[in-house]
Amino acid sequence: MLVRESGCGTCHVIPGIPDARGLVGPTLDQFGRRDNIAGVLRNTPDNLVRWLVSPQSIKPGDAMPDLGITPNDAAAMAAYLYSLR
Ligand code: HEC
Repeated sequence: MLVRESGCGTCHVIPGIPDARGLVGPTLDQFGRRDNIAGVLRNTPDNLVRWLVSPQSIKPGDAMPDLGITPNDAAAMAAYLYSLR
């Protein structure tokens, strides 16, 4: 629900989220098997939370904006994304 309400689907294809068909960012299908995050971070739960809270501090100027996600919400979203295998 958080993923849906945060508008992630306007930019990403996300299995299990209605209307998440965006093509601005990469598909998040099988994200749990991905080796890295945005090409710059190892795909670990801590790094995924960091990315979701502030992609701009990790990759300034990236097409994924800071969305004001709290660390708690990011952790919940990360758990969902890792379930996509
Ligand atoms: C305005 C468009 C936009 C929105 C909104 C957005 N993203 Fe992204 N996202 C991107 C782009 C573009 C990238 C690719 C970044 C890169 O590789 O430099 C990305 C990358 C990612 C990645 C890394 C994917 C990979 O394969 O490396 C994850 C995970 C992610 N986004 C999750 C989310 C989540 C969860 C939300 C909602 C809270 C969200 N995004 C909202 C555009 C967006």
